[in-house]
Amino acid sequence: MALIIGNWKMNGLRSGLDEAGKVAEGKREGDRLVICPPSTLLMAMAEALDGTGVEVGAQDCHMSASGAHTGRVSAEMLKDAGATYCIIGHSECRDECGDTDGLLGEKLAAVLRAGLKPVFCVGESLETREAGGAIDHVKRQLEVVEGEAGRAIVAYEPIWAIGTGKTPSADDIAAMHEAMHAVLGDGTELLYGGSVKPANAAEILSLPHVDGALVGGASLKAEDFLGIAHAS
Ligand code: G3P
Repeated sequence: MALIIGNWKMNGLRSGLDEAGKVAEGKREGDRLVICPPSTLLMAMAEALDGTGVEVGAQDCHMSASGAHTGRVSAEMLKDAGATYCIIGHSECRDECGDTDGLLGEKLAAVLRAGLKPVFCVGESLETREAGGAIDHVKRQLEVVEGEAGRAIVAYEPIWAIGTGKTPSADDIAAMHEAMHAVLGDGTELLYGGSVKPANAAEILSLPHVDGALVGGASLKAEDFLGIAHAS
């Protein structure tokens, strides 16, 4: 069964817990669903979803377990709050938080140390895609996670497809996932992210080596999120 992870990004107030509750109500036997809310909602959401089979994840973490890091949250704290997954290396964090490959290696180690499942994001810019360098670019990004293949989930999110309504062709997604699978092997689940919605989910999720989806905008409404899960 496909793994469908919702990344709420910086969206969601306490009223959003109702939407998570609707996801739990609509969950079918065998569905593998994870919601990654903002940290402010994590503990309440984990409590609200406890026992429903819908898991909760975080969107980023610090590499240290604790200490003088004002404004930051450690992987251990996220686990303590009820998270079981943690996204790292999202292009928005690479861009806005200055995540470098070196830092991401430390964050990956932190997530594993805390006993969370890392969802490691990779993806190229439009410029790189148009220059024909997408696969090489992603392979370079995978060097950070290669040593932990089998313990990490990897999400291919072309930057130009995020929140734009555009997606790569099915052939391009399949070619990228084939290349990632060749690097990481059978033990690593590979997700696609970038403008996934109920209408395109069935096609994307049927592609070889696409084991699930990382969903942004369409994860904010339970109906759409479940529509993606049930398209697979
Ligand atoms: O992490 C998920 C994300 O970046 C994709 O966002 O809104 O294009 O589904 P969206």
